[in-house]
Amino acid sequence: MRIRVSPGGSLEGAARVPGDKSIAHRWLLLAATARGTSRLRGLPGSLDVRSTAACLSALAEKARPSLDLWARNGPSAVETAGSTWNEDDRSGAHSLLEVEGEGRASLFLPGAPLDCGNSGTSMRLLAGVLASAPFRSVLVGDESLSIRPMERVAEPLRRMGASIGTTDGHAPLTIDGARLDGIRYEVPIASAQVKGAMLLAGVAADGQTTVVEPAPTRDHTERALIALGASVGVDGLAVTVSRFQHEAFEGSVPGDPSSAAFLVVAAALTGSTLSVDGVGLNPTRLHFLAVLDRMGVRTVTEVTHEELGEPVGRLHVASGAILRSTTIEAEELPLVIDEVPVLAALATHASGETWFVGAGELRAKETDRLAALTAGIRGLGGHAGEEGDDLVVPGLGLTGGVASAKGDHRMAMSFTVAALAADAPCEIDGMEAADVSFPGFVHVLRDLGASLEEVG
Ligand code: S3P
Repeated sequence: MRIRVSPGGSLEGAARVPGDKSIAHRWLLLAATARGTSRLRGLPGSLDVRSTAACLSALAEKARPSLDLWARNGPSAVETAGSTWNEDDRSGAHSLLEVEGEGRASLFLPGAPLDCGNSGTSMRLLAGVLASAPFRSVLVGDESLSIRPMERVAEPLRRMGASIGTTDGHAPLTIDGARLDGIRYEVPIASAQVKGAMLLAGVAADGQTTVVEPAPTRDHTERALIALGASVGVDGLAVTVSRFQHEAFEGSVPGDPSSAAFLVVAAALTGSTLSVDGVGLNPTRLHFLAVLDRMGVRTVTEVTHEELGEPVGRLHVASGAILRSTTIEAEELPLVIDEVPVLAALATHASGETWFVGAGELRAKETDRLAALTAGIRGLGGHAGEEGDDLVVPGLGLTGGVASAKGDHRMAMSFTVAALAADAPCEIDGMEAADVSFPGFVHVLRDLGASLEEVG
């Protein structure tokens, strides 16, 4: 799908965003391996999360009917309690999925390879769960996922006792689960997916498993395990777990702050005031707000409640920002890993050069995001360049043009948002990729007042 963005005008109102993808993957995995029936609300219908649900439906017999239906149809298929997946509930905030679990030990041999689609989080977290399952499973993914690095998760799980084969370091992954022993592992590259996989394997292992990160990353796995009653030791950058079988739970997935970031930047670029309600306010996901502050965009957050250890509330962005450049240092990058594209979009309109230093990890995402950003910003009539693993955006505005999403959801949405402040109309190719994390993105922006038109 190609859309034309006509710049000008401002946005207005309050928005909701789909449930947090990272949290949804983890809660689904935990629900399918819990004892009893878990009740999850607000799971996003994003394709990545549906991939996790589809894989789990092949592994967990009792949970299969609801997971299977949900994986195929998204939130609309499992509406209950009078809620509907309709124009008023594009975020899916009210839909309910019940998952009947029988404990981790009840997972059974899948009849076919498990397809993780485009989702690195599905593949890496599932590897952690399957490392202790006493059968062989094969994890496959789409073309983009099949070139992403998998040794980073296979290697530590092997050290715990699982047999894991990669295909030249990539998917397909063949996992022969085994009795696991806890280890202490210093993760060479900051990755919440690797940490999460290790912790999910760690609660099925003998002894203690300690994961030491080189830099802080999102802590959703730790928070969920703590809320479920596991003993989780957090000591600086080291997290320790030991064997634990959790019971069923209930929770409403908070809105995804990484999705909200697109709306916040859209508001900043159009001089608008905007609120996002029901959004996750976990500090390990909000570093982009500190970067925005340095760039002149003021936001306010207000925590209203918690869901399974996750703070939730409202995010408000004030109008009238005078945008200036900043430098995002290598140490900060793991905490804004998913927001680099949208921060780069903002930087195209800031005064001065914005630098993303040591951003090489962005090359291992859904596409080489440094190359895709450089090409896309240039395509829209702007300036950007790669210097080794640094990305520099000089911020001289956009004169209009065409950018390709390159099959990457965050590219599609970042270019759309950048185009809102261009000097002339812009076209974004491959907009359908947004469904991977933010189904309804174009509608939400339109509802807020943006002028977006489908042109092919
Ligand atoms: C995620 C971790 C990050 C992030 C991804 C989601 C997670 O990946 O980019 O979108 O849910 O754990 P890495 O762990 O590869 O940095």
